[in-house]
Amino acid sequence: MRTVDVIQKKRDGHELTEAEISFLIEGYTRGEIPDYQMAAWAMAVYFQGMTAAETASLTMAMVRSGEQMDLAAIPGIKVDKHSTGGVGDTTSLLLVPLLAAAGVPVAKMSGRGLGHTGGTIDKLEAIPGFRTELSREEFIEQVKEVGASIIGQSGNFTPADKKLYGLRDVTATVNSIPLIASSIMSKKIAAGADAILLDVKTGGGAFMKTLDDSIRLAEAMVAIGTEVGRETVALITGMEQPLGNSIGNALEVKEAIEALHGKGSPRLTEVALTLGSHMLRLGGKAADLTEARSILSERIADGLALAKLKELVAAQGGDTSVIDDPGKLTSASRVVPIPAQADGFVEAIEAEEVGLAAMTLGAGRATKEAEIDLAVGIVLHKGVGDAVKKGEALAELHVNSPDDVVAQVAARVTKAFTLSEVPVEKPALVYAVVTKDGVERLAGGRS
Ligand code: URA
Ligand code: CA
Repeated sequence: MRTVDVIQKKRDGHELTEAEISFLIEGYTRGEIPDYQMAAWAMAVYFQGMTAAETASLTMAMVRSGEQMDLAAIPGIKVDKHSTGGVGDTTSLLLVPLLAAAGVPVAKMSGRGLGHTGGTIDKLEAIPGFRTELSREEFIEQVKEVGASIIGQSGNFTPADKKLYGLRDVTATVNSIPLIASSIMSKKIAAGADAILLDVKTGGGAFMKTLDDSIRLAEAMVAIGTEVGRETVALITGMEQPLGNSIGNALEVKEAIEALHGKGSPRLTEVALTLGSHMLRLGGKAADLTEARSILSERIADGLALAKLKELVAAQGGDTSVIDDPGKLTSASRVVPIPAQADGFVEAIEAEEVGLAAMTLGAGRATKEAEIDLAVGIVLHKGVGDAVKKGEALAELHVNSPDDVVAQVAARVTKAFTLSEVPVEKPALVYAVVTKDGVERLAGGRS
């Protein structure tokens, strides 16, 4: 087989065989196929697209390019969740103990934050003593005993995806639905998931800006899962505003703990319950979504989800007293309110802008190597649809930064809010559900 013939076949719009795709990915991973040929192929895919069979073949070739997590020792259906990157999205911290308390084992590998989106591993490090680096044996044992564990990514998973993603980044070929879908799914499958729940964000703060594109990406990922025998469901959720009220590491841990106490922000709790209901159904612990939702609501009300979080934190060496008293988490030296400039109604809150503002305060990383300040961030006091009076706080900044930085961030957060003189409806939280049976568009934002 010659690489140039495979590139030409794709360029001319023909379907590649599984053998041809494996040949490319194996050769590229080994360094035998050079970047310039893979770049030409990626550009051909960008213009010609890929069939569902090709996309599934590419996904599995990338899975085979590295290590694969073996979760077979853990009984039950292992369900994993992936979010395409939100602001103030603390759902993982809620969902992991919630699902475990409802009997679905969760063996989760998470990442660190980059740019305007946060990472679960950074958030967990706000809990004193919490170990995010466990050995494989410790990880598996903990999931068997406690029902859940969250660790940082380590090991050589999907090296072909890492290499190809880096190449796409500099050849203007990131924005191809089959390439994005196979990239995301290869990582979830290599992490050992039997079933996958995808949270595809849509709107201003999201990777996919329009609902139609978000649905197309979701359909491509669900098709891959179906093709390779991992049941996959995707929810399209809104990013018209940050999901929870808190953006920042210790602040988000606090909000997740409050939500497990039944006192979280309604948006965060609602989205977590919706995602969790699908995960419970995928995990075989509920017959349908109605039953799933009532089980999860009960696990919050009876305190078992919170108790499960404590168990998880204890098992990973963390200080469980912060679960009882989140006030003990590290906090910033100053809190600066952001007042509304006029009376009105909140029409929009640019999530990406708020995320970048929090990053400037030190809550996130501009580059992979940057240090973060776990204590700082932004807490929203108003959401889209809320009425505000002039001078009332729209948000507050939790800061350790010098005055000039604070002033600059305050101006940015003020600008991220759009106020309207007329009442504004609260936006939907969930726009659509994509399963192997098709797309269901939702009007009211619930499923
Ligand atoms: N996120 C990924 O992991 N891969 C892509 O290709 C795009 C976004
Ligand atoms: Ca720590």
